[in-house]
Amino acid sequence: WIVSAAGLAIAYLLGATPTGYLAGSLFRGIDIREHGSRSTGATNVLRTLGKWPALMVLLVDVLKGVAAIVLARWLYALPSVTPPAAIDLQAWVDWAACLAGLAALLGHSCSVWLNFTGGKSAATGLGVLLAMSWPVGLGAAAVFGVVLAVFRIVSLGSMLAALTAIALVFGLQQPLPYRLLVIAGGLYVIVRHRANIHRLLTGTEPRLGQGSPEPK
Ligand code: G3P
Repeated sequence: WIVSAAGLAIAYLLGATPTGYLAGSLFRGIDIREHGSRSTGATNVLRTLGKWPALMVLLVDVLKGVAAIVLARWLYALPSVTPPAAIDLQAWVDWAACLAGLAALLGHSCSVWLNFTGGKSAATGLGVLLAMSWPVGLGAAAVFGVVLAVFRIVSLGSMLAALTAIALVFGLQQPLPYRLLVIAGGLYVIVRHRANIHRLLTGTEPRLGQGSPEPK
């Protein structure tokens, strides 16, 4: 069980790696949490630091989610980590990977290195989805791309992508642990966007390239 708990802790710590915060410190000597939407995600890095730092943060944040799943799948399949008698190995690895995915999402937005602040877990969530079930991940990414192209509002794209992922795990008849992961993770990502939802409803959410949101 020590290895099992360690697997989740590693996934959390992967998610908690404060990519956007580090970009702010390294590129401009600022705390990104005092700028724009206050999020450490790639969208806020884009509006605060520019295109290349944002691209780097986006890539690393997606990879954090991929790495959490890949690592959990490997770790929980080790011969020394035996599943409880009633569970077969495949189901055990699936459940463990799903919990690791949730731990990575939690880490990204409640990072132990940032006093439990962080981003909104959309990019890390995409990485988790791609590693768990690439058709679900690609479907969610496609909806994000279309919404962004049409409305130019990143938060709207992220939330509709989360809802799409929930619909796809059912539509594509994914196993139960994937469904639960995506429902819990998708709702979590939406809850993390509550300030954006408020701005969307009041018509104050900035479009891409049109300035910063007013902090509440
Ligand atoms: O993934 C975060 C994005 O959906 C919104 O970011 O900085 O505009 O709140 P932000």
